[in-house]
Amino acid sequence: MPMVCNACGWELAFNSPEYFAYHEKQSLLKKLYSEANSLTTDYLQRLINFMEVEILKTGGSEGFQEFVGASSVMLEVFSKIRKVAPTDLPVLILGESGTGKELTALAIHERSLRKDKPFITINCAAIPEGLLEAELFGYERGAFTGAYASKKGKFECAGGGTIFLDEIGDMPLSLQSKLLRFLQDRVIERIGAIGGKKVDVRLIAATNRDLGSAIAEGRFRNDLYYRLNAFTISLPPVRERGEDKVILARHFLNRFCREMGLTKTFTGEAIEAVRAYPWPGNVREMINKIRRAIVMAEANSISQQDLDLAAQQTMDVSKDTGLRDAIEKIEVQKIKETLNTCGNNISRAARLLGVSRQSLYNYKKKYGI
Ligand SMILES: Nc1ncnc2c1ncn2[C@@H]1O[C@H](COP(=O)(O)OP(=O)(O)OP(=O)(O)O)[C@@H](O)[C@H]1O
Ligand SMILES: [Mg+2]
Repeated sequence: MPMVCNACGWELAFNSPEYFAYHEKQSLLKKLYSEANSLTTDYLQRLINFMEVEILKTGGSEGFQEFVGASSVMLEVFSKIRKVAPTDLPVLILGESGTGKELTALAIHERSLRKDKPFITINCAAIPEGLLEAELFGYERGAFTGAYASKKGKFECAGGGTIFLDEIGDMPLSLQSKLLRFLQDRVIERIGAIGGKKVDVRLIAATNRDLGSAIAEGRFRNDLYYRLNAFTISLPPVRERGEDKVILARHFLNRFCREMGLTKTFTGEAIEAVRAYPWPGNVREMINKIRRAIVMAEANSISQQDLDLAAQQTMDVSKDTGLRDAIEKIEVQKIKETLNTCGNNISRAARLLGVSRQSLYNYKKKYGI
């Protein structure tokens, strides 16, 4: 009569390495499950967030870059990436310049079933209107003067993989209808072709523009917007990521120093400046400033000056801002950051800000936060 382990349910087989690996995993899962009963929902949520960040960090094949973030807004982004990645849904990524839109698109691809197939990026704003159609959809021989041979477009080249259309807000209207056809029927049409062709491609699009106003001005098709908008990921600007500013800065400092075989650290004053600066160019700006600072710093510590964060720059309020506007800007920034740090817990945020819960609700309403 074979003996069965009451932790993992498998027949006891002490000489099998797979058995030990399986047994260990099942026992740990069982332990986690029993401990979970005594944890609060809040704590379980934090545990899941932590797991999601860890999985995102290590997952995927070569070339997968580390996606850094611990603020509640970024944990939400990571969770969305993990949820949408294995589906075939189109994804619309929104965010200011330098917030990580391309990195997000790549993270989705890397975590999808398409990860071994091509990931092709096209910047709709960088290619002249006349060429964009040929680039995306290809053409048949003789379709226009100079088309001596037929050519595949990027949609066909990305077969089985993902196409990332950056700056989708800049796509000309004439091409938007072709894109809509692709989203509806998965069919693309080469220029000069008689009929369409079915392609198996996942679409991810991104923009740093307000598509709502592009629609109102007639520059973007409403129906295309609704198709794309089915799953949206909004990347928050770095200034709204609370302590992530410091985590990101330390991450890049360590990474670049490692690449250059150096050891450098930030001074306390530099860390304060990183916290206070509004980072209008987001992560990209931070990368540039830190690379430069590593070169500029003569000692092993990196100062506020090395980072080129002069004291007066650190406040997001320009010289010609009136007092009332300046106060409002600071209030909005402080409230957003604190809410972020507290995972949107109003009571905790109010306590940290030194105001009542009711006042915080009033501020939120006043500024539409
Ligand atoms: N959370 C993050 N952790 C680590 N690296 C990041 C993060 N966000 C962005 N980066 C890095 O910052 C740089 C800019 O990111 P990315 O190109 O994805 O931004 P973008 O939103 O597409 O910018 P743009 O609008 O300028 O095209 C890249 O080198 C990317 O790897
Ligand atoms: Mg980009």
